[in-house]
Amino acid sequence: MTLSGLSIGVAFTGSFCTNARILTAVKEIVAANGTVKPIFSYNAQTIDCRFGKAADYMKQITEITGNEPILTIEDAEPLGPKNMIDILVIAPCTGNTLAKFCNGITDTPVLMAAKGHIRNGKPLVISLSTNDALGMNFKNIGSLLNTKNIYFVPFGQDDWVKKPNSMIAHTDLIVPTIEMALEGKQLQPVIRSPF
Ligand SMILES: Cc1cc2nc3c(=O)[nH]c(=O)nc-3n(C[C@H](O)[C@H](O)[C@H](O)COP(=O)(O)O)c2cc1C
Repeated sequence: MTLSGLSIGVAFTGSFCTNARILTAVKEIVAANGTVKPIFSYNAQTIDCRFGKAADYMKQITEITGNEPILTIEDAEPLGPKNMIDILVIAPCTGNTLAKFCNGITDTPVLMAAKGHIRNGKPLVISLSTNDALGMNFKNIGSLLNTKNIYFVPFGQDDWVKKPNSMIAHTDLIVPTIEMALEGKQLQPVIRSPF
């Protein structure tokens, strides 16, 4: 499989426990010859936590992709009007970003990129990671699953005993989901449990 010649926006939001897995997925996109344009939400840029320092993660992503990340709304804004990417992958996608995107809120670089990109009628892939997937965000997931040009990396419950509302994407399926989305198809089955 090759993503050769394609420009792929990868938008990082603040689900820090999935950072390592998303790093692997980014390496897979690069290995498939995709050109990755990284975009970070404000919280992904600034929150240091037990999963690591934001600056270290951004440095790693910059080195792997060979591209400086987009860090502001004003730098994300041209992505749509200038048709700069073929597909946008929000990975990881927090419950916060999912809810805002679903409701037309555009107050981070990631959401600005998403808004501009879908305006062009091109595919957008969501790699979910949220503790409230089966709670407050269930309606938003349902709404976006039923929205044109939006595709989900197959996801499932990761710990139904301790976190019964939590669902996360199978990040090893990010590249196959991108391939299918570029053909206008959702990779199935989209709900896959258990982990
Ligand atoms: C250590 C840590 C881990 C977090 N993990 C998640 C997560 O996996 N999923 C999620 O939806 N939010 C998670 N959050 C909360 C988000 O970071 C928070 O909702 C933030 O506002 C997200 O902003 P963004 O969507 O603009 O990146 C976590 C926060 C911290 C501090």
